[in-house]
Amino acid sequence: MKKIIIANWKLNPQTPREARMLFGAIKKTADKQTKVKTIICPPAIFLPLFDSFKKSSQLSLGGQDCFWEKEGAFTGQISPTMFKYSGAEYVLIGHSEKRALGDSRDILRAKIKIALESGLKVIFCLGESERDAGGRYLDVLRQQLNDGLEMIKKKNYFDKILIAYEPVWAIGQTAKTADTPEDFLHNSLFIRKEINALAGKDRAMKIPILYGGSVNKKNASEFLSIGQADGLLIGRESLRPNNLAVILNEAQALA
Ligand code: PGA
Repeated sequence: MKKIIIANWKLNPQTPREARMLFGAIKKTADKQTKVKTIICPPAIFLPLFDSFKKSSQLSLGGQDCFWEKEGAFTGQISPTMFKYSGAEYVLIGHSEKRALGDSRDILRAKIKIALESGLKVIFCLGESERDAGGRYLDVLRQQLNDGLEMIKKKNYFDKILIAYEPVWAIGQTAKTADTPEDFLHNSLFIRKEINALAGKDRAMKIPILYGGSVNKKNASEFLSIGQADGLLIGRESLRPNNLAVILNEAQALA
């Protein structure tokens, strides 16, 4: 299976010019990695800028979020169909930064449903805010997974979904550290077991499970090798094309 590397640019960069430069720099390396699928998730407004770059099967685009209605009087929102026709093939749903801004489980369910119905593939993000030694955080993961997968099960959309496990405490500027690859392996096995219970072994084995949270050029390869991650969801380090190139090369070597 191809390794999947997702670049989540968040609220960066600030100008179309910088976005084009960053995209071009990442694309240069990504196009060479035949065993890696790179997915760039830029701010939505930049998506059409990348139309002029030659398409390649190694590189796809994704949205960072989408609205839960298809159309109508919803000022400021962007529908999954708009993403699709602006070049996105994927969309992140359930990112902890969106959950923190109010995405409840009902909202997430509605977003997943409409994104899949509109033809996007969903990168469903989940992760606990705190890790306790007693393992109660696993109940949080189970609940998030059940909430997210309920709809997918109903409609049998399992081949259109990826899971990104991102412990909230490991994400972003304030994170002190990434998770360990050993713990990721443990937690991803837990997630697969839960999917198995929900949807059977075949599907549980096929759904890619990615790690995210303070991934950088130093720790990335360990998550892919020791942690056996199917891929990585990368924030800050995805804005540094040279460092991301190191990660893409390693992913290619380990795939
Ligand atoms: P980070 O972000 O790599 O900057 O920790 C990861 C994410 O939010 O997806």
